[in-house]
Amino acid sequence: MSRSPMVVRTVPALRRAVDGLRARKAAVALVPTMGALHDGHVSLVRLAKRRAQKVIVSIFVNPTQFAPTEDFGSYPRTWKADIAKLAAEKVDLIWNPDVKAMYPDGFATRIVPEGPAVAGLEDRFRPHFFGGVATVVGKLFTQVRPDVAIFGEKDFQQLRVVTQMARDLDLGVRVVGSRTVRERDGLAMSSRNVYLSPDERQTAITLYRAMKESARRLKAGDAFESAMAAGRELVTGAGFALDYFEARHAETLAPVSSIKDGPLRILVAAKLGKTRLIDNIGV
Ligand code: PAF
Repeated sequence: MSRSPMVVRTVPALRRAVDGLRARKAAVALVPTMGALHDGHVSLVRLAKRRAQKVIVSIFVNPTQFAPTEDFGSYPRTWKADIAKLAAEKVDLIWNPDVKAMYPDGFATRIVPEGPAVAGLEDRFRPHFFGGVATVVGKLFTQVRPDVAIFGEKDFQQLRVVTQMARDLDLGVRVVGSRTVRERDGLAMSSRNVYLSPDERQTAITLYRAMKESARRLKAGDAFESAMAAGRELVTGAGFALDYFEARHAETLAPVSSIKDGPLRILVAAKLGKTRLIDNIGV
């Protein structure tokens, strides 16, 4: 059995541990997570190991990125299984602050990202979200001071937002995106997939199929709007309540109207029963 990685829960303990890891100038990679780890997270850790000598994983379910109506209270928390996975990957350190350590009494500062954070995608449906993400990721970066940080492409707008923030605020960390890991049938791995009933799980695959269908039509030269409409119809026809199904410029997330405006990314968010799923693919 692999030895459990060291777990630290206060900022001073984190600083001491990171100084230790940095001895002999080792490069440090950070993988920020909210726990409930699956194979997608494992692939982030593996990429981190290829990019740096030492790997730190943070596990913190960040309350500031959830609206009061969302699932902060019920978000899956699977500590023991998470530790076992990270031990198997030989992660060097786990940063697991509690809410008071991250947001002490009197905490009053918030990062308000713009640019990709106001692209009219997730921000339109979760207006609180990127402020919460940018604030916690900004804190994680200044707490850990990693050389590299790895984020999944599954949360594509989030990846663009933290990349922009790290650049704009000269945080000295290279943000690297990691390909989405999918189940055998194509469903993107997500900690929220556990909310799906068996029937919903069957239906959930439609999101990926719909994006692939729109991408296929765009590449085949179909008119832009009809190619996108075909994907949208598949999603709504399967019973999803659609938030958005759009093609955007892959770097800026600006709206596009032709495949020639690319590189393109198709992004989707839709609700199946009570579960909201997001996904995206490159065209
Ligand atoms: O993608 C996530 O799990 C979270 O949004 C992150 C980046 C860990 C910030 O809380």
